Amino acid sequence: MRIDIITVLPELLESPLQHSIMQRAQDKGLLEVEVHQLRDYSPFKHKQVDDYQFGGGAGMVMMLEPVVRCIEHLQQQRAYDEIIYMTPDGDTLNQSIANQLSLQGNLMILCGHYKGVDERIREHFITKEISIGDYVLSGGELAAAVLVDAIGRLLPGVLNDETSALFDSFQDKLLSPPVYTRPAEYRGWQVPDILLSGQHAKIEDWRYEQALERTRKRRPDLLDNEDV
Ligand code: ADE
Repeated sequence: MRIDIITVLPELLESPLQHSIMQRAQDKGLLEVEVHQLRDYSPFKHKQVDDYQFGGGAGMVMMLEPVVRCIEHLQQQRAYDEIIYMTPDGDTLNQSIANQLSLQGNLMILCGHYKGVDERIREHFITKEISIGDYVLSGGELAAAVLVDAIGRLLPGVLNDETSALFDSFQDKLLSPPVYTRPAEYRGWQVPDILLSGQHAKIEDWRYEQALERTRKRRPDLLDNEDV
């Protein structure tokens, strides 16, 4: 998969994409991420990318021209399955959206800043708008990093069997069961006996029950809503 990210703050995306599983995905050639500095596409003096909003009001708006030039430059090199705009008024990211996007070949992600982008960019270029939750970040970069991580780890071959995404919370509409490691006893705090029993079928039953119980207590909405 190839992901192109457009931003005025490429530095914000460097670290999240250069460690751990995201770096491994790129090293293995399974994921290619390129970050593009929007200012490089500005035709204006001082590489300006934002301007006052028509009608007045506080806050600057990202201008059409640099964004259009950048998007069209990228489109000349490949066809994109989705052009995604990170915005708090988009569809809230969930596992189902991450699963669907992980099946695509080429994605472009535009990170908003200031008051957001000129609406005409959304009308004429953007095919999907994604929020990572009902709160406002200073810009779309951290949200884009979350999205790339959620997608990247699902690409076949990125995770090994032990970390397989199939067993993640949400994949089967259940939260994950509790997990333990050594020591089996610490300050009198015991690991549940069943996990030390070696009875694999019973351990799987126990895990399923725990996952169900945890989901009922913490996220009953996941059990009610068949679309989650
Ligand atoms: N940009 C600012 N806030 C955001 C959010 N919650 N999700 C996605 N992009 C954003």
